[in-house]
Amino acid sequence: MPIKITFIGAGRMASAIVRGLLEKEHYTPEEIACTCGDDPTGPALAKATGIQFLPDITPALHETETVILACKPQQFVEINAELAEAGRGKLILSILAGIPLARLSEKFAHARNVVRTMPNTPGQIGAGVTAFTPLRELSGKDVEIVENTLSSLGNFHEVEEEDLDAVTALSGSGPAYVFEFAAALREAGVNCGLDEGLADALAVDTLLGAAMLLAESEESPEALRNAVTSPEGTTAAALKILKEGDLRKLVDQALAAAKARSIELASE
Ligand SMILES: NC(=O)c1ccc[n+]([C@@H]2O[C@H](COP(=O)([O-])OP(=O)(O)OC[C@H]3O[C@@H](n4cnc5c(N)ncnc54)[C@H](OP(=O)(O)O)[C@@H]3O)[C@@H](O)[C@H]2O)c1
Repeated sequence: MPIKITFIGAGRMASAIVRGLLEKEHYTPEEIACTCGDDPTGPALAKATGIQFLPDITPALHETETVILACKPQQFVEINAELAEAGRGKLILSILAGIPLARLSEKFAHARNVVRTMPNTPGQIGAGVTAFTPLRELSGKDVEIVENTLSSLGNFHEVEEEDLDAVTALSGSGPAYVFEFAAALREAGVNCGLDEGLADALAVDTLLGAAMLLAESEESPEALRNAVTSPEGTTAAALKILKEGDLRKLVDQALAAAKARSIELASE
């Protein structure tokens, strides 16, 4: 059976995509192949899912329809000319952070189309959000391939490439801000007298529940905030402190710094 989709890299993100594609039966295991670097991630993914592990992926690329670049961004330079040439006529989808379409399409000069994406870490459990930009408008079949692939990681949005630095600042780095906030909640809960394990559990479930309510509700975050804030109440007392400390300005500065760093990294 010909290989239809080939992964360069077999780490956490590649594994999440492979599992999603198999679970939704977009491909059979025989139609998917992967390669990896020196560590045994490729054989491990093949053993766990039944896909093929090919130490030399280049011959397989001749029959494949789609190539997913899922190695580390630093390993992009190791993609040799022979492998790049084997990408002729293929759809190349990259999840490598910070590698612009210009560099991708320079390497895979004869690709059918090239798609740059920016996923985030919850993608590893199918709960991520990914922004993507195609080099050229996607054909009907390629729309399906891109959507099937990205839905394995969670939700997705098509954006202009110039927006990807801002996307990186918001959703790419965003999970780290939420983890930091979870740690701050846990620490503050302990300072209020709670046991650390309980404070941790309450912080995680509060973030999870609030995010699920926000996603399901048609209300804005501000409206939901107001709904739990009675005048002179406990929440109002806490929000007053957050406002005095100008939480919104801090978040604004944090995203601006992340965006600036993303632009800087792309030019290195
Ligand atoms: N993790 C995330 O949530 C996240 C979010 C946004 C973007 N990304 C992007 O997704 C990409 C993959 O991230 P990850 O977290 O899945 O990384 P990872 O778990 O470290 O996996 C990287 C994979 O690349 C393989 N590899 C190393 N050298 C290679 C080579 N020369 N040729 C082919 N494959 C090679 C590695 O193989 P060995 O380990 O066997 O050497 C490993 O399977 C990165 O470019 C990252 O920027 C990830």
